[in-house]
Amino acid sequence: MSKSTTDSGATGVGHHNAFSATLTGILDRFSSTGKIEGPGEDDRLDGRSCLITGASSGLGKALAVELARRGAHVLMACRSGIPEAGEDVKRASGSQNVEMLPVDLADLDCVHGLADALRESGRKLDVVVLNAGLMPAKAYRTKQGFEVMFGVHFLANRLLIDRLLEDGVIVPRGAREGVSAPRIVFVSSESHRSASPIDFDRFGEFVDYGIRDGMAQYGHSKLHMCTLACELSRRLNPDDEVRVSVHALCPGPINSNITRDAPGLLKPVLDVVLGLAFQSPAKAAAPVVHLACSRSIEGETGLYLHMLRRKDPSPEAMDPRKGALLWEKSRKLLDAHPPRA
Ligand SMILES: NC(=O)c1ccc[n+]([C@@H]2O[C@H](COP(=O)([O-])OP(=O)(O)OC[C@H]3O[C@@H](n4cnc5c(N)ncnc54)[C@H](OP(=O)(O)O)[C@@H]3O)[C@@H](O)[C@H]2O)c1
Repeated sequence: MSKSTTDSGATGVGHHNAFSATLTGILDRFSSTGKIEGPGEDDRLDGRSCLITGASSGLGKALAVELARRGAHVLMACRSGIPEAGEDVKRASGSQNVEMLPVDLADLDCVHGLADALRESGRKLDVVVLNAGLMPAKAYRTKQGFEVMFGVHFLANRLLIDRLLEDGVIVPRGAREGVSAPRIVFVSSESHRSASPIDFDRFGEFVDYGIRDGMAQYGHSKLHMCTLACELSRRLNPDDEVRVSVHALCPGPINSNITRDAPGLLKPVLDVVLGLAFQSPAKAAAPVVHLACSRSIEGETGLYLHMLRRKDPSPEAMDPRKGALLWEKSRKLLDAHPPRA
């Protein structure tokens, strides 16, 4: 793995609050250090099945179009936009191989429901993109009482991946003849670098915040996500052979609906900044498409991209001791919330 250029984006400004995060996003977008070649037109997914969470809007929807255009059977796991978003994706990609599945990732029972539906369909997934995300104006709880970004960015993903592996919906390489290693891609954020270390004594406890400190909790939840990605990659691939590729990335600043909860007064200013300086979701999808289907990274695992730049995740996220703790503690939280009978 290549070394990260800095802790806080190419510029060192950081992601401590909404202002520094926006500035970092803009500056990083226009920096061209260490860029890699993106996916080629011949990187195709014909006959492959891809699940994308949060595909009703922004990056997830643009990704659904691109993967469908590359021949994949796309499953859009969404909380809203059913069936309109799927119809949009069919039109834009020219493919009819698009399905929508309902899920609210802020409710662990719904995550079990999605896993059950996938198991019952008999479909095997070649690519899973854990993309759903949010940035609320103030703290609120998931159905099971967790802080919502912890719940959606981290705990729901832990549960979903566990279930897909246990149920044989994701099949490690070697168990299906002639099929390459499935890929799991976490859509994270560079803000994970500015997060305070995970407090394992208070793991999963509800944290209150408002508009001023919401960015810190966003970064913190993305640190949980990146730590999970690193730990999952180690657990699934304990020796030299890669059975399941697990990657993560930050797509960079996107002109999407992520700021939908911004306060009314700030919204018009943000809309102008986003429109002028942030990338379109279609452009921002390039690193996700690369991790999902580029043949040039076949047989690799544990990659982290910041836009189309290869880096390491933060040292905190890569620490195996912390990864093991996060794994064990999150299993306990999930065990305390078994699926509804
Ligand atoms: N925008 C940026 O500048 C930026 C930068 C770095 C990383 N990212 C990451 O990129 C990813 C995509 O974000 P985006 O910018 O495309 O934002 P977006 O347009 O707001 O899309 C977010 C998607 O996540 C879904 N979602 C949120 N909460 C959910 C829940 N409880 N259950 C199911 N789905 C849920 C949303 O569904 P609904 O429409 O139903 O709410 C929507 O489809 C996120 O993980 C975000 O953290 C974004």
